[in-house]
Amino acid sequence: MLKRLPLARSRSKNEGSLKKLKRFLSKSMAQKIRKAVFPVGGLGTRFLPATKALPKEMLPVVDKPLIQYAVEEAAAAGIEEFVFVTGRGKQAIEDHFDISYELDQTLGARGRVDLVDTLRSWMPDPGQITYTRQMDPLGLGHAVWCARKYIDDEPFAVLLADDLVLADKPCLQQLIESYHTKPGNIVAAMDVLPEHTDRYGILDIEEDKGQLVSVKGLVEKPLRRNAPSNLAIIGRYILMPEVFEHLSKKNTGAGGEIQLTDALAKMVNSTPFYGLRFDGRRFDCGDKVGFLEANLAFALDRDDMKKAVERLVKSYT
Ligand code: UTP
Repeated sequence: MLKRLPLARSRSKNEGSLKKLKRFLSKSMAQKIRKAVFPVGGLGTRFLPATKALPKEMLPVVDKPLIQYAVEEAAAAGIEEFVFVTGRGKQAIEDHFDISYELDQTLGARGRVDLVDTLRSWMPDPGQITYTRQMDPLGLGHAVWCARKYIDDEPFAVLLADDLVLADKPCLQQLIESYHTKPGNIVAAMDVLPEHTDRYGILDIEEDKGQLVSVKGLVEKPLRRNAPSNLAIIGRYILMPEVFEHLSKKNTGAGGEIQLTDALAKMVNSTPFYGLRFDGRRFDCGDKVGFLEANLAFALDRDDMKKAVERLVKSYT
């Protein structure tokens, strides 16, 4: 009898957890990813002086600002509501996603209605974009927390515009497809050099199935010797709304900032958690060399520029 009691208890505890997991799965599986958060409140110090008056997210790769790539990627993946977390000096982003009457009129008068149509073609409909201010750039986790009222109680995406991904299938689309087969938190991941682990959030891997890994922990910017793996998170996430409870504690981590990674680490025992080695190439456009490389890669990917850029590159080697 004495021996059976703990067993019975643990069985009922397991049944309880199983029920919770089932509830979680049916709730999450039913929910489409409709909303995306774009944290654009950072200072972009690595890109000063360019970012003194210009938002980092407005830096162009070839002829398109970073934020437009991110919004187009989200729209292609079925996102219907776009939540921007902005800050001081970021008004150019709002203007970019608004109609420019003077420009349209001038272009129209010059017979360039085609350009006007192109300029409007990628804009979400009125009311699909919401802006909120972070007020104080306290870190990525804080920026995401600022979007809580707009996300409410449903799973959502987060896209960091300065992480640009060149891929046949948009990176967010890949994440969403994975999420529908394995609901839970899921982050885009890539293998990095061991000496670069201190630049990223790093995954502690429970099981590695090649493309999809299940995750048992996360560490923000660990030194090589403390890193649990060299699988790094990049700026695409599908997150469960429970993350806001953890972010609301406003605990600070690496660099004295409120880190998204730390809040996610607190969820690994209660929420299924995955990393997806996405197909595609990621460029860190918040970094000068990464930004230059992105310009080269995107130009070389365009039929109208490829030959000229190849010639240009050759002339420098
Ligand atoms: P970064 O780590 O690149 O920081 O933020 P940063 O401030 O933009 O740039 P550096 O490091 O000073 O050069 C990653 C993403 O998180 C957003 C940034 O806008 C960027 O998209 N972010 C970061 C916020 O929205 N708020 C913050 O407080 C910090």
